[in-house]
Amino acid sequence: MLQFAPLICLASLVTATITISDPSDTINPANWAADNALLADFNIQPVLYQTEAIVGPYSYSDKDLSISHASLTVNANDTSVLIIANGSNIDVSYTDIVKFGYCSNLFQASFYGLNAAVNVANDSIARFSNVNVTVHHGAAGIYSYGSGTTVYVDNAWLYSSGPTSHGLYASGNGTIYANNVNHYSGGNRCSSFSGDNPAGYVHVTDAVAHTDGIGSAICYALGLCNMTNVIGHASHAPVTFSDGPQTTIWKNSDVTAGLLAGVVLFSSQTRVSGASVTFDNSKLTVLGKTMPSIWMGNLIGTATIISSQFNNSASGLLAVANYSQVTQDFDYYAGYPDNNNLLPAQLTLLVQDSGLSGDIVAYNGSSIGLDLASYSSWAGKAYSGYGTSYLAISLDKTSSWTLTGTTYLQNFTDSDKSLSNIKSNGFDIEYNKTSIANKGWGGRSYKLPGGGQLRPK
Ligand SMILES: *[C@@H]1O[C@H](CO)[C@@H](O)[C@H](O)[C@H]1NC(C)=O
Ligand SMILES: *[C@@H]1O[C@H](CO)[C@@H](O)[C@H](O)[C@H]1NC(C)=O
Ligand SMILES: *[C@@H]1O[C@H](CO)[C@@H](O)[C@H](O)[C@H]1NC(C)=O
Ligand SMILES: *[C@@H]1O[C@H](CO)[C@@H](O)[C@H](O)[C@H]1NC(C)=O
Ligand SMILES: *[C@@H]1O[C@H](CO)[C@@H](O)[C@H](O)[C@H]1NC(C)=O
Ligand SMILES: *[C@@H]1O[C@H](CO)[C@@H](O)[C@H](O)[C@H]1NC(C)=O
Ligand SMILES: *[C@@H]1O[C@H](CO)[C@@H](O)[C@H](O)[C@H]1NC(C)=O
Ligand SMILES: *[C@@H]1O[C@H](CO)[C@@H](O)[C@H](O)[C@H]1NC(C)=O
Ligand SMILES: *[C@@H]1O[C@H](CO)[C@@H](O)[C@H](O)[C@H]1NC(C)=O
Ligand SMILES: *[C@@H]1O[C@H](CO)[C@@H](O)[C@H](O)[C@H]1NC(C)=O
Ligand SMILES: *[C@@H]1O[C@H](CO)[C@@H](O)[C@H](O)[C@H]1NC(C)=O
Repeated sequence: MLQFAPLICLASLVTATITISDPSDTINPANWAADNALLADFNIQPVLYQTEAIVGPYSYSDKDLSISHASLTVNANDTSVLIIANGSNIDVSYTDIVKFGYCSNLFQASFYGLNAAVNVANDSIARFSNVNVTVHHGAAGIYSYGSGTTVYVDNAWLYSSGPTSHGLYASGNGTIYANNVNHYSGGNRCSSFSGDNPAGYVHVTDAVAHTDGIGSAICYALGLCNMTNVIGHASHAPVTFSDGPQTTIWKNSDVTAGLLAGVVLFSSQTRVSGASVTFDNSKLTVLGKTMPSIWMGNLIGTATIISSQFNNSASGLLAVANYSQVTQDFDYYAGYPDNNNLLPAQLTLLVQDSGLSGDIVAYNGSSIGLDLASYSSWAGKAYSGYGTSYLAISLDKTSSWTLTGTTYLQNFTDSDKSLSNIKSNGFDIEYNKTSIANKGWGGRSYKLPGGGQLRPK
């Protein structure tokens, strides 16, 4: 009844939800369940040169032209619909591209774009506007290959079913600039946006992206993932997988992850350094009970968090660093038996103008350094999962730490020497008295606001 409206109104205002549509509202993934259940088969001999010709009915080599108001389609294995290659410069507008047909060699698909609906390659420029690219049986939507290749996409609707079907995919140093993109994929290993060996540079602004499959991130970084104003939901994957020394930027974005972690930074080969992920005015939500916001394994790198929110209320975990990696199954954290080149992770978290909560946990020789600056705050504790790990916290005068448990630190630095920016809740900060970084504490104990102590151990 209307007269009860004030109370009900207040409640509904507080929980107000708005709905954003993605292509799975138009083409029901349930109708393509068998396609989406196909597993990507990478159990074949990897050949790291192009063995298969890229063929298709609309194939252009060294051509300048425009395609407009067309419907292009193919139904054949290992066959593209549209190929723009060898110095071509082609505009495609108001065009529907529909692709059926399986791929017989996923290495060729990943590194050279075999079976991609659209393959733009070898010093070519392609401009897509108002395009609908729909693929089934597993195929990339728009693929950009080679150092001189740049693909511009404006107003694209991208749908796929089947495995290894990334929406926008750049490799061989290819570049993509996309704006106003709406993407859905239902299969495994189908990130909305992805790079591949040796690198792909993917810039996306103003996008809605939704993936349902395992291993299907919103952006898979191999090279650059530069995401601005992206709303993303990865039901069975992190929002970012980043393999090696790659760069990922999330700016003005709101992204949700459903498996493993919010972000998974790893090296599938030997440990390297130089990985970086940035959240700038963005929101990252993790849905699973064991999922940290940031996870790093077998890698050295940095997560920069500027004016952002991390919702990890499901797990209470902010960050994990581990002697581990993910395998090509993308659904568990692997140990030594899967990769005997593993080394501990070294994760640095640089936080500015953000209020974070959740524990930081380092395993088996790994380290995590959390640096809180510019009016940041953190509520949590830090601990070693197993083995001896190294944890470091530093705070500037404007930042604060609310302890939720006693924490042993390798390094503790606080620009506020009076420690008034620590809320101890009765817990202690124990510092390693032999670590040089703790020299300033002089091996002494100090009272912390809230009843706990800072003490040497
Ligand atoms: C591009 O050039 C290469 C080398 O000549 C050739 O093999 C390939 O078929 C050409 N691509 C197209 C689409 O014609
Ligand atoms: C790009 O060039 C390479 C080397 O010439 C060739 O093998 C490949 O087929 C070309 N790609 C396309 C899509 O034409
Ligand atoms: C296409 O690939 C599928 C799946 O591997 C296979 O069942 C089918 O026979 C292939 N079609 C042709 C014409 O080769
Ligand atoms: C895109 O094309 C698919 C396949 O033809 C169609 O089902 C879908 O409705 C189209 N999407 C839009 C937004 O027109
Ligand atoms: C990618 O860049 C590297 C380094 O510049 C270069 O050696 C390689 O040939 C490039 N690959 C392609 C496919 O353009
Ligand atoms: C990322 O994209 C934004 C928006 O297009 C652009 O301003 C910025 O320069 C890009 N960053 C990088 C590292 O390319
Ligand atoms: C945080 O995420 C959970 C889902 O795990 C959700 O229920 C909750 O509303 C979110 N909280 C905020 C403040 O957004
Ligand atoms: C840590 O790595 C080990 C393998 O070394 C793995 O079994 C375990 O699940 C990982 N835990 C987390 C939280 O990363
Ligand atoms: C811990 O690290 C050592 C190497 O220092 C390795 O041999 C062992 O397998 C690791 N244990 C786990 C559970 O990851
Ligand atoms: C602790 O401080 C030392 C000396 O500054 C540094 O070498 C080490 O990397 C720091 N450890 C961590 C976990 O940040
Ligand atoms: C304390 O710091 C010293 C010097 O960096 C290091 O060798 C030692 O392993 C640390 N002890 C613990 C328990 O972490």
